[in-house]
Amino acid sequence: MAFGHGKVILFGEHAVVFGHPAVAVAIENAAEVSWERATGPITRLTIQPGDTRVDTGSEPNAGRELLQRALKVARALYADDLELELRAHMTIPTGAGLGSSAALGVAVLRAMDEARGLSRDDAEIFERSFEWERVFHGTPGGIDNAMATYGGLQLFKRAFPLKEGVPIYQQISLTRIVPRDPFCLVVANSGNRPPAIQMITGVRELRERNRTLVDTTFDGIAALVPNGKLAIEQGELKSLGQLMDMNHMSLAGLMLVSSQVQDMVGAARQAGALGAKMTGAGGGGCMIALVNERERADVLAALAAYQPFEAWVR
Ligand code: PMV
Repeated sequence: MAFGHGKVILFGEHAVVFGHPAVAVAIENAAEVSWERATGPITRLTIQPGDTRVDTGSEPNAGRELLQRALKVARALYADDLELELRAHMTIPTGAGLGSSAALGVAVLRAMDEARGLSRDDAEIFERSFEWERVFHGTPGGIDNAMATYGGLQLFKRAFPLKEGVPIYQQISLTRIVPRDPFCLVVANSGNRPPAIQMITGVRELRERNRTLVDTTFDGIAALVPNGKLAIEQGELKSLGQLMDMNHMSLAGLMLVSSQVQDMVGAARQAGALGAKMTGAGGGGCMIALVNERERADVLAALAAYQPFEAWVR
């Protein structure tokens, strides 16, 4: 059985695509993939819940083109003729900003290795899963597949070393953050959202039209990151919540917050959350709220219509 973590981003989504730092934490929700040898000449992937099926056959899997393309990319990493029947079980809601595509990619690649008796270190899994993520995000920041691979609470930054004058985007630095005290996030899901690639492309296009606005916003978000890290390390949850609110406001300024997510953020704050923000690519999807012991039940109740769950950061 192979595994890939889901994640929430505390600070820095979208800015991370342009090389700014971000903070993310792996959540218990994950992708698990089991395998057996296929009887036919193609590799197939079945995903539960939902019974979604894709394969490496030449016919397009109608409505599942991205997933089929990603599976073909993964399969093409092996020169042998071993075909597999892969079964994924997702406990991450998909397409909601919790890194489900990256978690699935990491789990699929690990399962493909496992089936061949190969054991690769995390750095290699990260690099290979970048190709999978590229299918879903176009120009991924790399944070989702890094979190899916490594887990934990991490300060993420893409490095830009040059190889023959060309940036090697896959190179990253991850710094483990150790919170002074465990703290609790409530995660809630507004439902489906546009594909992440659409939101990422939208930001890129906005930046082409108005570079100053977008770069200034990203500089502002980047400035929150070291303060956020410090607040976590020092157990300053009130400051941490305020910084999350600021990050949310910046993302709203880039038109990434749906009205429903805005309402959910408002409801969480009203119920006593120390801070709340959208998380992931936006345009809908999930939000996170920082809660302390006293208000936790109230925030969960305020978000009851949106399948809320707790994610502990340790
Ligand atoms: O919504 P998700 O889980 O796919 O997260 C996307 C995070 C972005 O920063 C918006 C994109 C990226 O590849 O870093």
